[in-house]
Amino acid sequence: MRLEDSAPLKSIKTRQRVRIPHLLAAKETGEKITMLTAYDFVTASIFDRAGVDVLLVGDSLGNVVHGHDTTLPVELDEMVVATRAVARAARRALVVADLPFGTYEASPEQAHASAVRLMKAGAGAVKFEGGQRVTPQVRLLAASGIPVVGHLGFTPQLENAFGGKRIQGRTESAADALVDDAYALYEAGASAVVIEMVPAHVAARVTEVVPIPVIGIGAGVDVDGQVLVWTDMAGMTQWSPSFARQFAHLGSALHTATQEYVEAVRASQFPGPEHTFTN
Ligand code: KIV
Repeated sequence: MRLEDSAPLKSIKTRQRVRIPHLLAAKETGEKITMLTAYDFVTASIFDRAGVDVLLVGDSLGNVVHGHDTTLPVELDEMVVATRAVARAARRALVVADLPFGTYEASPEQAHASAVRLMKAGAGAVKFEGGQRVTPQVRLLAASGIPVVGHLGFTPQLENAFGGKRIQGRTESAADALVDDAYALYEAGASAVVIEMVPAHVAARVTEVVPIPVIGIGAGVDVDGQVLVWTDMAGMTQWSPSFARQFAHLGSALHTATQEYVEAVRASQFPGPEHTFTN
């Protein structure tokens, strides 16, 4: 979808329900787009009520929820289950769901079949990794009414090919290739692009060149919006990537609460009379 097809420009913050054209409008007005991963109903409800514009059912679910080292083992069925839960929670936010490794690369038809499953589960758009190599997939999905979010820079599904979590776009030619990839995604009909782990000036250049929203993660501030994995944002784990800020320390709060629960049960201090049915 192009910007000229979208509704009149209005602040994204006032939208009762965020949809793809509102992201395009936010780029036009210079309003930052907020995006956070979510994998379940409870946390997605909290993020939605807190005003996050886009809930990303990321395939980082493989790491965060299932404890894998990479996103490669994630199955489409797992993404469908998580997407259903997040979509049930999302009253306002747009839900974007990731196509996992092995479910879209082979052909546009494969991508279409996979994307249809996520859309039926409640997604409002799908995201998958790659630039020019996946433009046939983007073209077919966009033509079928399935909004697509691209993913460039460090793309976790290619971690083996990259030889680890490596910053991308560091040389001039790699930066040029990123811009070309982002523009190719736009021309193929993508509605937005996530750009991960690239130098800030490169992400800024991509943002300036492509007419669709560019959402950064480890890509500096001069982009159209930001996305983080929620457990990094909320400090659920001791380690988080250097580009993520911990806005809370929920991991240690949960640890303390759990210790107190264990102690209270062992000392017969829980349940107390106020938690006990007497008749
Ligand atoms: O799966 C995911 O969480 C993502 C973000 C890192 C953008 O794709």
